[in-house]
Amino acid sequence: MVSSPSSAVVTSGAAIRQAFLEFYAAKGHRIEPSASLVPEDPTVLLTIAGMLPFKPIFLGQRPAPSPRATTSQKCIRTNDIENVGRTARHHTFFEMLGNFSFGDYFKKDAIAWAWELSTEVYKLPPERLVVSVFRDDDDAFALWRDHVGIPPHRIIRMGEEDNFWASGPTGPCGPCSEIYYDFHPELGDDHLDLEDDSRFIEFYNLVFMQYNRDTEGHLTPLQNQNIDTGMGLERMAQILQRVPNNYETDLIFPIIETAAQLAGLNYYQSDEKTQVSLKVIGDHVRAVIHMVADGITASNGGRGYVLRRLIRRVVRHGRLLGIEGAFISRVAAAAIQLSETAFPNVREREGAITAELDREEARFLETLERGEKLLTEILAQAQGQISGADAFVLYDTYGFPLELTQEIAEEQGLTVDEAGFAVSMAEQRQRSKDAHETIDLTAQGSLDRLADAIHPTEFIGYDAAVGTSAVAALMVNGVGRETVPAGTEVQVVLAETPFYGESGGQVGDRGYLAGEDFVIRVEDVQKESGFFLHRGRVERGTATVGAQVTAQIDRACRRRVMANHTATHLLQAALKKRVSDDISQAGSLVDFDRLRFDFNCPRALTPEEVQQVEEQVNTWIAESHGAEVAVMPIEAAKAKGAIAMFGEKYGAEVRVIDFPGVSMELCGGTHVGNTAEIGLFKIISETGVASGIRRIEAVAGPAVLAYLNVRDAVVRDLAERFKVQPEELPDRVTALQNNLKTAQKELDTLRAELAVVKSDQLLDQADTIGGVKVLVAELEGVSADALKTAAERLLQKLEDGAVVLGSSPEAGKVSLVAAFGPTALAKKLQAGKFIGGIAQLCGGGGGGRPNLAQAGGRDPEKLPEALATAQQQLQAALG
Ligand code: SER
Repeated sequence: MVSSPSSAVVTSGAAIRQAFLEFYAAKGHRIEPSASLVPEDPTVLLTIAGMLPFKPIFLGQRPAPSPRATTSQKCIRTNDIENVGRTARHHTFFEMLGNFSFGDYFKKDAIAWAWELSTEVYKLPPERLVVSVFRDDDDAFALWRDHVGIPPHRIIRMGEEDNFWASGPTGPCGPCSEIYYDFHPELGDDHLDLEDDSRFIEFYNLVFMQYNRDTEGHLTPLQNQNIDTGMGLERMAQILQRVPNNYETDLIFPIIETAAQLAGLNYYQSDEKTQVSLKVIGDHVRAVIHMVADGITASNGGRGYVLRRLIRRVVRHGRLLGIEGAFISRVAAAAIQLSETAFPNVREREGAITAELDREEARFLETLERGEKLLTEILAQAQGQISGADAFVLYDTYGFPLELTQEIAEEQGLTVDEAGFAVSMAEQRQRSKDAHETIDLTAQGSLDRLADAIHPTEFIGYDAAVGTSAVAALMVNGVGRETVPAGTEVQVVLAETPFYGESGGQVGDRGYLAGEDFVIRVEDVQKESGFFLHRGRVERGTATVGAQVTAQIDRACRRRVMANHTATHLLQAALKKRVSDDISQAGSLVDFDRLRFDFNCPRALTPEEVQQVEEQVNTWIAESHGAEVAVMPIEAAKAKGAIAMFGEKYGAEVRVIDFPGVSMELCGGTHVGNTAEIGLFKIISETGVASGIRRIEAVAGPAVLAYLNVRDAVVRDLAERFKVQPEELPDRVTALQNNLKTAQKELDTLRAELAVVKSDQLLDQADTIGGVKVLVAELEGVSADALKTAAERLLQKLEDGAVVLGSSPEAGKVSLVAAFGPTALAKKLQAGKFIGGIAQLCGGGGGGRPNLAQAGGRDPEKLPEALATAQQQLQAALG
């Protein structure tokens, strides 16, 4: 016998949501709140699945906060917008319940728990459930059959299209397995066609996330085997509430009833067309309240355009129902009431939601009124089809989106010439392109010309990491462009931006600008004449002036910069406190990985002072001081004692960054909210850069770990090479240095001995001048000491002689020695004077006793000449 779910305890949407989260919490999952509809992921416009906020975790780009998580995620998909209201289960806005494993459990548990939840918590009769697996996934097949006990003919193998899930053309993906509910089990098991929507509804998708797909479609295994599941809340509500479609569940129907009341209608007694309009309103109004609550406003591009289109469709269907005038905020009030328990931000943002919806509705009603007369004429004249040119006039002059004209046409049994519309659109683009003067930014004063055309960029990045803005200008190599294709380096000017432009020593932010169909990676941001020039590269699509983009900074980089910037302020305060109050800033650099602080100080810091400064900064970090940021007149800031940089130009209003009791500086940079966020601070060096200016290089925040890791690797490597423990390294190095010194001494002795031995061979070269045996010679690579020993020994052997030796023991060094016997001395030769004179010829000097003297010089090339001079002088003196 087939049972029905009437015995289910859990039926309301709220109860289904709660039961899901509690079931998985009991299985060790952390309940995470729903992420915003505006995704962090720049490659998608809106959050389209429960897994999206976890994408970086699946890709191994971010650590998982816990190995298991469960969420009820608000999602929007607009790819099936035409089917909304027409089928039982298509939506733009929906909630996806999900359980996730990040490299923790895999198929076996995911399958067992999905079954347990479906049959024991939601109490769906097992005989009403059919499952699908990916074509080749024998594991999943076996688990359903053997572990869960599903008869094999109720496990359907399906192809790539249905059972291989991916969040987009690239990114994490994997085979999946789905659970279907059978509305008509009485039809029997002979022909189980899961694509038959009138019989089956897929309510739970288990994705075995294990690959990453690249731009060329190649699959590479992810680091981990993960689980990503999605259960449609509205679908489960339809099943458990036993209503014919998702719209009649308690999650949506109250909105439909409100709209029906405003139109003076009864939903159940209405014809199908009217019901469709009511369902469209029920669906879209849920979507738009959440979109505005998450900060989206209506515009002509990106997600702003999705919002505009949804609002216009609501207004349009309201008119089809016969509602006169503005009504959307009244329906929105019903939607807010329905959603506020699960999503309190819709109530908090109610004012903003109402204002945005009213404004956009009023604008569109005006458009409709203006266009309606024309539309009536066009419809009356159309013979089967509305021409592309007419559709374009409605679009261009009256603001009717093409889809809207198509819908209206369809209601009258007409079509629209889309190709003709595209031609008119292209002609219009060309006309505006011709009319638009390209701004040549290479020309003198070109930024001023840009300034005439557009407003300076507004910086919103103190509070926001993400913003939506129109592209105000695009430049390639400084020349203005209307469009810039993929693969090109580009500079982008936005009307407003969360990206910090390089200034005050702090580098510009990195991140992404994502348009509806293009993405620009931003590498750097410079400020010029009030414009923020985002420098980067178009990664895909074609960037276009006027397009709406989501500007999103790389938050990890920003966090690192903030840690380094606040640490720079603390460093200045610590230097003043621990070293001297006279210290003042001479310059600074705040980068992602390091900071540099130059300051006026007449002397080097002692190692103890450096250590004290470092300790002071770390103490303030540990003490967890909160930041107070205020904008005030400069005089007020100075009166409060804020540190300003000497010689820096400030405006009348200044921004003051105050960590009360620790540091107060005028600064336009971005800072941590609390010193504790810095974590750790480490000074790397203290050096002199110019007379009276010292420089400290340091790291703060996550960069400390990176720095210490590099140091640690060096120490480990050395310890391994020396085969000692790291702490034994200093002793080991001292011992080595001593060994080296001893070896060097031994080498010197040996060299001297060798020189002496070699010098014996010189005896034959001695000339006899005036009865004195004279020997002048160069020895190769002999130290001063060895040279002296050799000279003494030669003089001894020659008995009454005069010996002059020279050598270059190393590059840039000359050693000389003179040793004179009795006759030479009697002839008034003085070794000291003599060799001093010779040494001068080699760029040096020296002297000593009359009979033996040494000297040195710096020009080995001059040595042969100098020795020749010595020979001549001896000849003259003795001859
Ligand atoms: N990511 C899958 C889906 O959206 C399962 O959550 O269907």
